[in-house]
Amino acid sequence: MALYNPFASKYKGPKPQPGYFHYQQQVMSKVNPNNALPRGYPLKHYRIEKTIGGGGFSMVYLATDNTTQLRVAIKEYLPCHHATRLKNAAVQCISEENASAFRLGFSRFFDEAAALARVNHPNIVHVRDVFRANNTAYMVMDYEKGKDLRYYIKRHEGNLSEKFIRTVFPELLLGLQELHRRNLLHMDIKPANILLRPGGKPLLLDFGAVREAMIGSKLTGPNTLTRGFAPIEQHQHKTLGPWTDLYAIGASMYACMCAKAPPAATKRIIKDELKPTTRTSFGRLYSVQLLEAVDWCLQLDPRDRPQNVPQLLDFLNDESSGLALELRTPWYLTPISLPWSKK
Ligand SMILES: Nc1ncnc2c1ncn2[C@@H]1O[C@H](COP(=O)(O)OP(=O)(O)O)[C@@H](O)[C@H]1O
Ligand SMILES: [Mg+2]
Repeated sequence: MALYNPFASKYKGPKPQPGYFHYQQQVMSKVNPNNALPRGYPLKHYRIEKTIGGGGFSMVYLATDNTTQLRVAIKEYLPCHHATRLKNAAVQCISEENASAFRLGFSRFFDEAAALARVNHPNIVHVRDVFRANNTAYMVMDYEKGKDLRYYIKRHEGNLSEKFIRTVFPELLLGLQELHRRNLLHMDIKPANILLRPGGKPLLLDFGAVREAMIGSKLTGPNTLTRGFAPIEQHQHKTLGPWTDLYAIGASMYACMCAKAPPAATKRIIKDELKPTTRTSFGRLYSVQLLEAVDWCLQLDPRDRPQNVPQLLDFLNDESSGLALELRTPWYLTPISLPWSKK
């Protein structure tokens, strides 16, 4: 079915009948591309170029900053289950019942974007601007080239080398440490949210679920989680902390090895079919130290995991555990030539 898109000049379908917009808005909220802002749309001093991402909760656009001519990525709060776009580009909730969920999500998006704007770290996507328009909120980020970790996992069917994993994750952990230092938890770490820039520098993306969470706080309200990557405390609304993100780090390293996420924590808690990686054939490709780090992060009980980033980094950098010499050089001193940097 062709949807009438008030923003698209190429629409060739029948002229919409009265009442159609109301119907269309409800349908458009689930059929995403037509809900996006069109090319050329002026938003503050930015110009939308194209849609580059988006899902249930937001839209991501490539845009140009008219004042500097620099490219930026703009994330728009647009929760498709609660809201839709009107003809004048404003975002509106679908119904009264959705209004409170929409507003709660809105203020979280806004507050968290503002919190992120204060974080300045090379491994955390840089937020330049946060503003309200069109009855919704926008987060303007540096536009970063690269491919997400899913791409490499898929291309190599897992089996990413120890060197690869040790180039990406310790550096990513430094970004995460900075986030934790500011009492923020990411809460949705997974390969899709880890961008590898040309040259291999990893960048943590997607702060849709980020929480300004004091260590020891509990989850309230809507919860974004990805099965397999989210630990049990995120499913059960239990005490959260850096260990919550570290489970997801372990699950992401695990996915680099075998191209799949561990079983969902909700399944594992009933019957744990996840074998520790140290007791699998992974040992053919990876050092015991790396496998132990993965197993440590993937403990079901939060207390059995590394409690903070420095603990995990110390473990990974501990030279006494018999790593091959070439892997012992601190990762940050050796710019490693990665396969994709040659392209
Ligand atoms: N700063 C950015 N630079 C370049 N691409 C980005 C940026 N932010 C997001 N993207 C692209 O948009 C996609 C979706 O963004 P993300 O923040 O993960 O939102 P979602 O909530 O839809 O998962 C990403 O996978 C990436 O391809
Ligand atoms: Mg994402």
